[in-house]
Amino acid sequence: MTKHLLTWTSVLTTLALAEQPSAPKPVAAPMRELPWGQLNFMQTTDTHGWHAGHLQEPQYSADWGDYISFADRMRKKADDMGVDVLLIDTGDRIEGNGLYDASDPKGEYTYDIFKEQSIDVLSTGNHELYQSDAAQREYEKTVPNFKGNYLASNLDYINPKTGQAIPMAQRFRKFTTKNQGIRVLAFGFLFDFTGNANNTVVQPVEKTIEEKWFQDAIREDVDLFLVAGHVTPRGPEYKAIYKAIRSQKWDTPIQFFGGHSHIRDFTKYDSKAYALQSGRYMETIGWLSIDGIKGKGKKTDPKEVGTEASYTVQRRYIDNNLYGYHYHTGLNESTFPTEHGKNVSTFIHQARKSLKLDYNYGCAPKDLWLNRAPYPSNDSLLTWLENEVMPDIIFSKERKDVPTLAITNSGAMRFDIFKGSFSRDTTYIISPFVSKFNYIKDVPYKSAKGLLKLLNNNGPIFSTAGLHTSQLAPPEQLSILTDIIAPAQPAKDVYTSGGAQAPLLSSDAPDLIPGYTTKDDSGDDGDDTLHAPISFYQVPNCIQSPISFPSSGEPEKVDVVFVDFIQPWVLLALQFSGEGYTSDDVLVYSEETLTDMMAAWIKKNWGQDC
Ligand SMILES: *[C@@H]1O[C@H](CO)[C@@H](O)[C@H](O)[C@H]1NC(C)=O
Ligand SMILES: *[C@@H]1O[C@H](CO)[C@@H](O)[C@H](O)[C@H]1NC(C)=O
Ligand SMILES: *[C@@H]1O[C@H](CO)[C@@H](O)[C@H](O)[C@H]1NC(C)=O
Ligand SMILES: *[C@@H]1O[C@H](CO)[C@@H](O)[C@H](O)[C@H]1NC(C)=O
Repeated sequence: MTKHLLTWTSVLTTLALAEQPSAPKPVAAPMRELPWGQLNFMQTTDTHGWHAGHLQEPQYSADWGDYISFADRMRKKADDMGVDVLLIDTGDRIEGNGLYDASDPKGEYTYDIFKEQSIDVLSTGNHELYQSDAAQREYEKTVPNFKGNYLASNLDYINPKTGQAIPMAQRFRKFTTKNQGIRVLAFGFLFDFTGNANNTVVQPVEKTIEEKWFQDAIREDVDLFLVAGHVTPRGPEYKAIYKAIRSQKWDTPIQFFGGHSHIRDFTKYDSKAYALQSGRYMETIGWLSIDGIKGKGKKTDPKEVGTEASYTVQRRYIDNNLYGYHYHTGLNESTFPTEHGKNVSTFIHQARKSLKLDYNYGCAPKDLWLNRAPYPSNDSLLTWLENEVMPDIIFSKERKDVPTLAITNSGAMRFDIFKGSFSRDTTYIISPFVSKFNYIKDVPYKSAKGLLKLLNNNGPIFSTAGLHTSQLAPPEQLSILTDIIAPAQPAKDVYTSGGAQAPLLSSDAPDLIPGYTTKDDSGDDGDDTLHAPISFYQVPNCIQSPISFPSSGEPEKVDVVFVDFIQPWVLLALQFSGEGYTSDDVLVYSEETLTDMMAAWIKKNWGQDC
């Protein structure tokens, strides 16, 4: 176990910072104002450890310390106007960035960094629950750090001493807002997740809403029901909660905050029920304002915050950078940062240094895109993995020269590679998983050759076995599938495929920076920054590299090598092809993780001169 000696006191000795010193400066861009209402929200979700911000993308270069300064300035603004601001976080705070993943045990600094923000309602994501040690840390650190505000409506923790299931945190929370006196009843949900470690119990949402405590809660007399959760706004779980509340309160406003599919989205259920989802990876701070809500308070400046007459909900997706933070607060480089925010930025910087996250494995010769370039193509990260990396790293002395099909799922890759330094941090950003390779020997080629097609066609052979192939692809593609399963609304996404979407502005604004151009139930004016659109290309669930194949003809038998995560799908597909393999036939191919093997490949093949 590595021991790092960083404490808050050592922060004292260094100069306080705003944002990370190596962060690229944000670029000025045309902006949209934030709409203010009686009740305003800021939401983060799916931050996945990116609390240092994006150090290779100016547009998302602010860090958690800057967000702390921003929230303080906005609360002050709200107090001056006599309105309220609440902060929400809907989970998946961990896994996906060196700041969390590079320490042993993981998250050595993350929990202390995260707790510095004051958040009014937060909930758990699936990533907090995959590993039992992470679930335990969540229970022992984050829940008490946010006592009273951390909600777990359908999640229990198993006390390791007694073996008893107890609520992970309190089921709901009732409170009254400070300035407007709005009475809020809040829940915190997780979608019907089944991949959790055995020290937690996730109860299906549809069952939880039948429980007495929930049925009592939705009969309470409040001004607003607030449902925060790691749930996609267009998925079945929120529809069930919406229907349950409406069956008791036909007219009380309901505000949902969602997460999980990593997109920016805003959904209308009815004229007083809406859902916001605020993207991923500290790229986006979601902003939502509500007007026309009952409450005891009075707004001081109705002109500025809109009319109280009708119920109005407006949203903005704030790009997480200092240019925007200065713009929205009317402050500048010297007046914007708070001492607290600067402290946290400095602590993050020292944590990154202590974890050696800038250690350079090699220099990427060009950008490689996960979803921004078509697959296959030379700019595709998956093509690079399939043609260059896999054939090199899949090698075993015992099975040398045996024809091999090596299969990995596209969801094993989480982000793009940018031209320039591929650092220790980048390894966790690209592939935070501990996936290793397994294999099955001597599979008849007539069956093995159909495997990839079966894995990629989302066919019913998997769903009837309760295995959803959507879990194999990057989560950004979930929204597309969700809309197929629950087609209540037309498909919405941050990007459109093939660059078909028209730019926001015509050719008289040629200098827009590429970025999010979100279309949601409220139109296409949600982003706070005007961007040139980026294309989104769907990628297959899995890719495959043939290795050591004969130069002509087909081999009779092959070894099938695959990342361990996809084993249930591989076995099922082989059974479907008439091969009776079980997990007893599966052998370990390598002890190294895909991530480590990729890092070693980069060290060997990419130069050090960025
Ligand atoms: C949970 O899983 C671990 C590791 O697989 C096992 O050792 C333990 O007995 C399991 N605990 C329960 C309560 O099933
Ligand atoms: C920031 O704003 C303050 C107050 O308006 C002003 O005095 C100062 O010169 C500004 N600083 C910069 C760097 O623009
Ligand atoms: C900033 O950090 C210093 C050193 O740890 C501490 O003394 C001070 O109270 C902190 N200030 C705020 C506002 O967090
Ligand atoms: C892709 O890369 C290969 C190998 O470097 C090259 O031969 C080919 O021309 C490239 N294709 C395109 C469309 O650039």
